Amino acid sequence: MRFDVLTLFPEMFSGYKTQSILNKAIDRELVEVHVHNMRDWTTDRHHKMDDRPFGGGPGMILMVEPVVNCVRDVQAMSDRPGQVILTTPQGERLRQPLCEELASTHQRFIVLCGRYEGFDQRVIDILKPMEISIGDYVLNGGEVASMVLIDSLVRLVPGVLGDEQSSWDDSFSRGNRILEYPQYTRPRSFEGHDVPEILLSGDHGAIEAWRKNQSLERTKQRRSDLLE
Ligand code: ADE
Repeated sequence: MRFDVLTLFPEMFSGYKTQSILNKAIDRELVEVHVHNMRDWTTDRHHKMDDRPFGGGPGMILMVEPVVNCVRDVQAMSDRPGQVILTTPQGERLRQPLCEELASTHQRFIVLCGRYEGFDQRVIDILKPMEISIGDYVLNGGEVASMVLIDSLVRLVPGVLGDEQSSWDDSFSRGNRILEYPQYTRPRSFEGHDVPEILLSGDHGAIEAWRKNQSLERTKQRRSDLLE
């Protein structure tokens, strides 16, 4: 899976790319993440990316020309044009089923990170990106949202997680659209808090039943909407 991220703040991705699962996936050539500075596509002397909105109002708007030129040039860097995605609070809410659909239908994503008051509407009219929001809150820009998107998609690339660490059991996932059960490791007792006896019993059937029940109870208490 290949990601091309278009941003005005490429440095924000350098630490993220060294994060262990992603870093290993990149080393093993299962995933590529290329970060491009949209400012490199400006044509004026001052490398101007934004301007005041026509009609007045606060903030600055990202200009259509450098953004569209950047996307077109980046598209041409690989034989697959890729699905263009714009991270914006106005987009479709990112949920696990959408992640699964995207990961199973595309090999390449071009992710546009917004900033300031947003893009000139013609960026959207011309490029027709899929608009995705990571939740009902407003971030300072689309960079963090695109890291969230990339993180959720790379987990679904076959081979990125070891067999022992499959994404199948993740909360919200295909195998399991409810929350995960609680987990424990050593020590058996800490400050009077003991590991549930059943987990030490060696009775695998009983442990599985207990876990299933814990998952259901948690989901009922915290996210009953998932059970509807
Ligand atoms: N940019 C700013 N806020 C955002 C959000 N909630 N989701 C995606 N992109 C954003």
